[in-house]
Amino acid sequence: MITLNPEEISLKNLQRTLQFAIGPRPIALVSSINNDGDVNLSPFSFYNIFSSNPPILIFSPARRGRDGSTKNTLDNVLSVPEVVVHSVSAEMVHQTSLSSTEYDSGINEFIKAGFESIASEIVQPPRIKSAPIAMECHVKEVRALGDGPGAGNLVICEIHKIHIQEKVLDENGKLDQNKLNLVGRLGGDWYVNASGEALFEVEKPVKNKGIGVDAIPKSIRNSTVLTGNNLGQLGNIEILPQEADVIAFLNHHRIESIFNETSDAFERRELIHHYAKELLELGKVEKAWKALLIDGLNTIKEKKD
Ligand SMILES: Cc1cc2nc3c(=O)[nH]c(=O)nc-3n(C[C@H](O)[C@H](O)[C@H](O)COP(=O)(O)O)c2cc1C
Repeated sequence: MITLNPEEISLKNLQRTLQFAIGPRPIALVSSINNDGDVNLSPFSFYNIFSSNPPILIFSPARRGRDGSTKNTLDNVLSVPEVVVHSVSAEMVHQTSLSSTEYDSGINEFIKAGFESIASEIVQPPRIKSAPIAMECHVKEVRALGDGPGAGNLVICEIHKIHIQEKVLDENGKLDQNKLNLVGRLGGDWYVNASGEALFEVEKPVKNKGIGVDAIPKSIRNSTVLTGNNLGQLGNIEILPQEADVIAFLNHHRIESIFNETSDAFERRELIHHYAKELLELGKVEKAWKALLIDGLNTIKEKKD
């Protein structure tokens, strides 16, 4: 284990470490405008949603690490507090990257990156016609986090209009995560696809009040087979299966064959844990619990035999 103290390492090293450690990050492709009407388009991955009532997103154009100078987007929002924030899909990631080129103020990155623009409805900066999602925002506040190189500037935006392409909706008219095909930013030059096999679901614990890992019997909690993730799944159950259901599970063919394979209690427990792990990986938490609780029923099994 190494421990870094931010004040003792170079800004470059610190920035690189944080950008690898904190990810994947969503990407905001931001269009802004200055007082002369010059349009700017730049990506920012120091970005997220912070409130839905009011609907607030924040992104951070930082001062340049090399000389502490400010970016055009920051200068623009300080004079015209309006932006359009676009979500970035895999189909537009190379154009997005190109738009991050440090062109001089007055150079329109819509044109440089080859994005077709259309007029926004309530803000002055235009939006990207092909973007899956474009959000027209008013900038409520800009909060500088410092004034040296690398200092971030929180651009706090209230979303007033959300434009969504029909092609990213499912058959019920709801946003489809796969069709959105978003990308995220990691450290260095790395990006990540947020679609296809990279997607998986984890049931929200808000639906119930799980028993918690601490309430899992020690023989299961200290398993050499089950992982932290497996214990998290087990701890999310609200009520343990009834003893009658656990007893009935003794007749399950996998359990039968585990009992037939070994008479050594330790070995049997290990096989049961392996089976429970398989079930958990299939999302069958209730069944996994039944298998695991059989361990405490050995005497019943013996009686049954
Ligand atoms: C995917 C991506 C994400 C980026 N995220 C940020 C960021 O969060 N903050 C930042 O200051 N620069 C970020 N950059 C770099 C800026 O986009 C770049 O400095 C750009 O030239 C700023 O443009 P501007 O001066 O026209 O505003 C990012 C670049 C890329 C390609």
